[in-house]
Amino acid sequence: MILEGEAIAPSNIAIVKYWGKRNSELNLPLNSSISISLDGIYAKTKVVFDSNFNEDKIIINGKELGIKEKQDYATKVLNIFRNIYGKKIYALVNSTTNFPESSGLASSAAGIAALVYAANSALNLNLTQKDLSIIARIGSGSACRSTVGGFAFWEKGVKDSGEDSFCYQIFPENYWEDLVDIIAIISTQKKKISSRLGMQTSVNSSTLMKCRLEFIERTIPEVINSIKEKNEKKFFELTMRHSNSMHAVILDSWPSFFYLNDKDLEIMRWIQDYGKAAYTFDAGQNAHIITLQQYADVVLDFLKSINVEKIIVSKVGHGPIVLHD
Ligand code: ADP
Ligand code: DP6
Repeated sequence: MILEGEAIAPSNIAIVKYWGKRNSELNLPLNSSISISLDGIYAKTKVVFDSNFNEDKIIINGKELGIKEKQDYATKVLNIFRNIYGKKIYALVNSTTNFPESSGLASSAAGIAALVYAANSALNLNLTQKDLSIIARIGSGSACRSTVGGFAFWEKGVKDSGEDSFCYQIFPENYWEDLVDIIAIISTQKKKISSRLGMQTSVNSSTLMKCRLEFIERTIPEVINSIKEKNEKKFFELTMRHSNSMHAVILDSWPSFFYLNDKDLEIMRWIQDYGKAAYTFDAGQNAHIITLQQYADVVLDFLKSINVEKIIVSKVGHGPIVLHD
């Protein structure tokens, strides 16, 4: 028996960031988070379940993953699908990203979200977006936010089961049409400390974590309101403060690690002075500069002036799409 499905899903950039878990097995976060799905930056994944296979095989951009690499991500997701389907049927997963692997952009969120949509289609399960976001979350936390387009909200939930920790769309992709994300590729090297390890180190050691969680609780309604009102000044301010807050916790963690470099700090200073854009950094050196279309050229000129050579311009994009031949 052979069952096939294929889907694409977008990458996302967190505005309110996920940094810390209350349960590592289920990827249950300490705080709710908000992200933007990125237009034109996606993973395309095909899954083939075949009753003749005796293990999962995961190929990402032409390279097969080793046992350890796949077991904590894609295999975890496939195990959930096998449980729901009720048959132990293994899969060949072939995923490609449309952004270069060497761009330093994370692919796990888009890849895992594409995988859940592809598997749901292959097994004809008709699971809801909410259910799929929960399965994606178990694969990789931030992947749950790639199960929708537009502005995504991942509810932290309080239950041990994780059933109330899922993602939904708060504003559609065409809500704030002149918002752009200018991604400055500062480094193409793989980060030394993964998000998974980094956030665990922060949970175990950062004395600032508690303050950050309070800050997030207090300001999430303000972030949502700034999007609702398209209040760019407020939205830019909060975006930068949420990025700073995560990197402050990281700097406060022990054993010590830090993701930002000199060029990032230069970008941060310039954006703050400029006042018409926001920077945000995930667990890496690449800067996401959120601004309005009318200011994009000024930002691009600045990036060129400091010799940033690789730049990707995106905007708020759509959610996953199941592909049919
Ligand atoms: P991050 O996106 O968190 O920076 P990586 O890109 O290094 O991390 O990926 C971490 C793990 O996520 C990989 O070891 C792999 O198991 C899984 N992964 C990455 N990309 C994909 C994909 N396109 N499809 C399925 N799983 C993926
Ligand atoms: C800094 O989702 O990659 O990008 O749940 O362990 O797979 P796991 O972590 P992951 O962490 C993402 C962290 C972040 C912030 C964010 O996207 O919210």
